[in-house]
Amino acid sequence: MSSLIEQVYLDSALTHIPESVVEGTTAWQSPSNIAVVKYWGKYDRQLPMNPSLSFTLSEARSETSLSWRRKKQTGISLQFAFEGKPNPAFGEKIELFLKSVEPFFPFLNHLHLSVESRNNFPHSSGIASSASSMSALVLCLLNVEQQFAEAKLNHEEFIRKASYFARLASGSASRSVFPYAAVWGTSKAVAGSSQEFAVPAEQFLHADFREMRDSILIVHSGTKSVSSRAGHALMENNPFAETRYALAHQNLERLTQAMMQGDLETFVQITEEEALQLHALMMTSRPSYLLIEPQTVSVIQAVRQFRREQHIPVCFTLDAGPNVHLLYPGKYADKLQEFIREQLLQYCADGRWIDDKAGSGPTRISY
Ligand code: PMV
Repeated sequence: MSSLIEQVYLDSALTHIPESVVEGTTAWQSPSNIAVVKYWGKYDRQLPMNPSLSFTLSEARSETSLSWRRKKQTGISLQFAFEGKPNPAFGEKIELFLKSVEPFFPFLNHLHLSVESRNNFPHSSGIASSASSMSALVLCLLNVEQQFAEAKLNHEEFIRKASYFARLASGSASRSVFPYAAVWGTSKAVAGSSQEFAVPAEQFLHADFREMRDSILIVHSGTKSVSSRAGHALMENNPFAETRYALAHQNLERLTQAMMQGDLETFVQITEEEALQLHALMMTSRPSYLLIEPQTVSVIQAVRQFRREQHIPVCFTLDAGPNVHLLYPGKYADKLQEFIREQLLQYCADGRWIDDKAGSGPTRISY
C-alpha cells in the first residue's frame, strides 16, 4: 500500500517534457553529513528502524551535473562518469535507482541522460559519499522536473521531495539537503518528523552547535570489509536490536534538548555512546565483524585524555568505518588543531585529516 506522500508524488508525476525542448543541463553540489544519533537497521523500502540526527557538512561535497537530450526509444538510458572517467559500477547503481523511481518520473523514459559526478574529498576516505552524491543527483532530477511541471513546488516542498527521493537512493542522503542539521525518522521530540523524509533540525541548535566543527581523522582509507547495506540487514537478527532502537529514540530526545540548551556535556556523552553502540552492534551481529582499527582506539583514548586534562568539550563519533570524526564548537578550533597536529596525526594514514564544519546545505551550480 502506498503512503499518502508517495501517492501525491505519483499523482503529480511529469510524463513528458514539451516537444519543443530537446536538451538541457542542470547541476548541483550537495554535502555529506555526519550522524550523531545513528541510523542502523531498516525495513521495507528504506525506512529507518529508529530516528537519526546529523550535522550537514560544509567542505565534503559532491558536484553532479545532469545533461539530457530527447530520444526516440523509450526506457532509461544513462551514461555515467565519476571524476571524468566512465565508472560502470557506480553507473549501474544509479541506473537501478532511476529504474526504481521511474513511476514517479516517467518523463525519464524519453530522455538520454548523461551524469557526471565528482567529490571534493578523497574517495574511500570514510566520508559518506553516497549521502552527498545521491542527494546531488536527486536535486538535479527534481530540477529538470520542476522546470516543466505545471504545479511548481515552493522551496520547502522541493527540499522535502528531494529528501524523500534521496532516502530511496541512500538512507543517510535524506538528511544532506538541509542546512546545518537534520532529523530523519519519526521522533516525538521533533514535530513533523517522518519515516519517509528528513526534516530541518537547525532550530535545535544553540550557537555553539551551529558553529560545530568536524575534524575527520583518516586512520585507514581502504574499502570496508562489510558494506552498510549488509550491516543494516544484520540488525534483523541482532540480539540487542530492540534495546538499541529504544535507546536511539531516548538519545534523540535528550540530544535535541541538550542542543537547544547549549548543554555540551550531555552532547559529548550521547555522541560517544551512539558511536560506540553502532560499533558494538557490528561486533554483536551474527556473524560478528569489526570495522574499527587499533588506531581508532588510540585516537579515542587520546581524545578522552585531552578532554579530561584541558576541559574542552570535544568528542568523537564514528561512521560505519575506522575513521574518527572529532566534534567541537568553533571557538576551540585553534587548540584542537594543535592537539591534532601534535598528538593525533601519528595515527592517521599518511598523516591525512580533513577539516570540516557544519554548513548551509546544497546549492545549485550555474555555469
Ligand atoms: O545511508 P546508509 O545506508 O549508507 O547508512 C549509513 C549509516 C551510518 O552512516 C552508519 C549512520 C548514519 O545515520 O549516517
